[in-house]
Amino acid sequence: MRIVLVGPPGAGKGTQAAFLAKNLDIPHISTGDLFRANISQGTELGLKAKAFMDAGDLVPDEVTIGMAKDRMEQPDAANGFLLDGFPRNVAQAEALDVVLKAEDMQLDAVLDLEVPEDEVVKRIAGRRICRNDSAHVFHVTYTPPKSEGVCDVCGGELYQRDDDSEATVRRRLEVYHTQTEPIIDYYRAQNLVVTISALGKVDEVTGRAMAALKKS
Ligand code: AP5
Ligand code: ZN
Repeated sequence: MRIVLVGPPGAGKGTQAAFLAKNLDIPHISTGDLFRANISQGTELGLKAKAFMDAGDLVPDEVTIGMAKDRMEQPDAANGFLLDGFPRNVAQAEALDVVLKAEDMQLDAVLDLEVPEDEVVKRIAGRRICRNDSAHVFHVTYTPPKSEGVCDVCGGELYQRDDDSEATVRRRLEVYHTQTEPIIDYYRAQNLVVTISALGKVDEVTGRAMAALKKS
């Protein structure tokens, strides 16, 4: 399957993507994670992306589209993928269509995670991520690690993302409404959108997502 996951910052895209990718046996491709990996490795691409990310703005398309395309062309993505955080504006959605068309491939579904804004702000404020693996995500009250500041999975140090400050979150939400939400209409016109509520326990949301994807 080829799936796009869309939803506001903090909706739980990364959390759900980890489970969905495992259940569906497809790679989880997160442009946010790819940028963060480049930043921690000090690459040129990471240097270009950091200032935009810290400000809560989108990284320019000329950097993002090439990086996403390179990742989608890796052998493990030949039979499907779960895109998380890409596309994030209509120009990126159009670029993805070109990439897919060139390979005679199509998207199967665009899974839209709906969460009220006050919940999203709470989720981001309490999020803690493992330094060893960005798939190890916790929340200080909703899904706390057994011992504070330490990853349950691998023992790594948990940290708070630089762009999770209140001011930056406000900017990320604004960018989501103005630049990313229009892709939902773009995909609605292709009859690909399935919308689910992302409220409730993590496994409840996963169940809802799997059921919606089966029907799509
Ligand atoms: P990115 O990393 O994609 O961030 P985002 O879209 O803002 O989404 P988040 O990672 O903040 O949230 P999430 O929905 O994954 O939530 P999570 O599962 O962690 O992008 C960051 C930046 O990179 C962008 O601002 C931009 O600058 C740049 N970028 C990336 N892609 C780009 C692109 N295509 N073009 C241009 N620029 C790009 O969950 C949040 C918290 O809630 C966690 O603590 C989790 O434990 C908790 N939680 C999850 N589910 C539940 C639940 N059901 N109940 C209770 N708590 C829950
Ligand atoms: Zn870990």
